[in-house]
Amino acid sequence: MKDKTNRLYSDLAWIWPLWEGVEQYRPESEDAVKLFKEFSKMDARTLLDITCGAGKNDFTLKKYFDVTGLDASEAMLENARKLNPECTYIQGDMRDFDLGKEFDAVYVNDGIAYITTGDDLEKTFACAARHLKPGGVMLTIAEKYKGNFKQNQTKIFHSTGDEPLITYIENNFDPDPADTTSETTFVYLIRERGKLRIEHDFHTFGLFTIETWREKLKKAGFEIQERDGVYEGESYRTFICVKPL
Ligand SMILES: C[S@@+](CC[C@H](N)C(=O)[O-])C[C@H]1O[C@@H](n2cnc3c(N)ncnc32)[C@H](O)[C@@H]1O
Repeated sequence: MKDKTNRLYSDLAWIWPLWEGVEQYRPESEDAVKLFKEFSKMDARTLLDITCGAGKNDFTLKKYFDVTGLDASEAMLENARKLNPECTYIQGDMRDFDLGKEFDAVYVNDGIAYITTGDDLEKTFACAARHLKPGGVMLTIAEKYKGNFKQNQTKIFHSTGDEPLITYIENNFDPDPADTTSETTFVYLIRERGKLRIEHDFHTFGLFTIETWREKLKKAGFEIQERDGVYEGESYRTFICVKPL
């Protein structure tokens, strides 16, 4: 059954822009801007968005920064280039890339959830740190972690706008609480001109303790502060990570 994985970022990437518009990404993006401005030891002008996806966060971030986005999926980057032609988009793996430059700010938002091992978490933070100027801030977010994970939680979302009409059913399940992963199953109901098409998709996410996040961030050399937030009833932890001068 688990034959199809991460289709949302490959053959089904076309439905990503129909699910939650840029307006829904605006509050979290504006919150990130506030934290970058508050904690940065410089007048931050350039920003690297690691796992930028289709650029919905960048749509707001680009008002404040000169944005470069990095993502593994060329299909998602195509979406991002259409939405934000003024930004620079580059394909790469968050665990191992070298753009040969440092940025004033680095954002590692929701895509960090795809890191499933402690070693890869370490590599990702080390890579982000290498791309950040001393005195700059890296922001990253633990959406689901051991402590806030809701076993067998199911959520339903609907597309907005014209056809195709899409209903997204998302189920989160942790088959083995002893390891560092959980799985999410998506079922997409796609309706167009009265016809129904059903697709499914599996995603594997990382599930770490907050102590693991802290340990890996400190190992990458960051000074960290933490904030708790709630979005649509779900708690999350933001790590504000300063690269020492
Ligand atoms: C939830 S989406 C990001 C959405 C994005 N915040 C936006 O504004 O549209 C998660 C992204 O993480 C990317 N991703 C997953 N694993 C990755 C990796 N190892 N390196 C780079 N990007 C990765 C996926 O391709 C996907 O585009």
